[in-house]
Amino acid sequence: MRRLRVGLVGAGLVGQAAHAFYLWQDRERFDLVALADPSPSVRTAMGARYNIAELHAGLDDLLACELDAVVIAAPDPLHPALAAASLAAGLHVLCEKPLSLTVSGCDRIAAARDRSGRVLQVAYMKRYDPAYRSALDLLPERVEDIKLISVEVNDPDHEPFVAHLPITAADDVPAALRDRTRAQHAAQLQEAAGGALDEAGARALGGGFLSALVHDVAVVHGMLAHLGCELPASADQGALFDQGRGVQLAFALPGGGRVAMTYLNLHGVPDYHERITIFCTDRIVELEFPSPYLRHLPTRLRVRRRGGGQALEVQEHRVSHEDAFREQLRAFHAAATGQAPVLTTAEQARRDIELLTSAFRQAVA
Ligand SMILES: NC(=O)c1ccc[n+]([C@@H]2O[C@H](COP(=O)([O-])OP(=O)(O)OC[C@H]3O[C@@H](n4cnc5c(N)ncnc54)[C@H](O)[C@@H]3O)[C@@H](O)[C@H]2O)c1
Repeated sequence: MRRLRVGLVGAGLVGQAAHAFYLWQDRERFDLVALADPSPSVRTAMGARYNIAELHAGLDDLLACELDAVVIAAPDPLHPALAAASLAAGLHVLCEKPLSLTVSGCDRIAAARDRSGRVLQVAYMKRYDPAYRSALDLLPERVEDIKLISVEVNDPDHEPFVAHLPITAADDVPAALRDRTRAQHAAQLQEAAGGALDEAGARALGGGFLSALVHDVAVVHGMLAHLGCELPASADQGALFDQGRGVQLAFALPGGGRVAMTYLNLHGVPDYHERITIFCTDRIVELEFPSPYLRHLPTRLRVRRRGGGQALEVQEHRVSHEDAFREQLRAFHAAATGQAPVLTTAEQARRDIELLTSAFRQAVA
């Protein structure tokens, strides 16, 4: 198997809790040789933890290393510039979600990918989750037989789910860079919103919609693609509540059914909850995802349908203890070495961002 020399761009929460660990662990496929992160303490800690030789503050120095690929886990507003520069340097890119906060950012990345001929994979890890992959086979054949897809997410603070992991805080990023990133974040949200945002609006758009529900939209997008249907470009309902800590969206399915999603951020209850229920004419298929930071904890997949007589038959499918993040990296390796097509593309991400943005615009209309 060809080993890819990889650089990690940004090693904060998800970079440390997931990407660095899985890259380091999967030594058959990857050699984690470089890190770019502006935090000196993150660089020092990661260099020692994973024996990374090339430690740099920014992308330019990282690109001077001999690499095949990068994994981008830097803050959202930096994705377009970092991904486009990495592709232009001839590297394959696995980029965290949201691919970009704006549709124009997605287009910029897709154009850079097309010029480079390299692989660009969006890090929608749930699309690589073994339980999600199995759920596809349990769906009805026709979208007309899906009446409702209901998504419910409570995403409280992440601390209880990562306290057991070695995580070094990036609390010494130079202030000027931090301020610039904040300003870019605000400007990109404003572009996505099509106008000025208040605090609740910025929290809802940048948090609940584009950072959190983007996962669930991507999952539903994958299910629809599996059934040969497109994800619509716009939602027909959007709402925000609890000062933007909660958001909702809804849209029609091609066959007459509906999709309804609710996200909330209950600080008081450290119970991660992410449930996707597909109500069909003859079955109910349900996925329950654990906190993404918990390793080897399977996503729960259950199917309920009529048994004999009046009985309800409930089947639980314990598919695998493999982690979605690891499967995602394996798929990235396969795509980058020409063995498989990219499953989660920039084009899909663009459509997801369009839909989410439209829901936000309706919420504040
Ligand atoms: N897939 C998931 O489940 C998941 C979970 C959390 C976050 N994310 C996504 O991953 C990305 C990172 O999120 P996070 O929660 O780890 O953020 P974070 O703020 O904890 O970490 C960001 C890291 O990037 C570094 N950084 C800042 N500017 C940089 C630059 N110019 N170049 C390189 N590194 C830079 C910071 O120093 C920090 O170490 C975001 O896009 C987020 O939406 C995905």
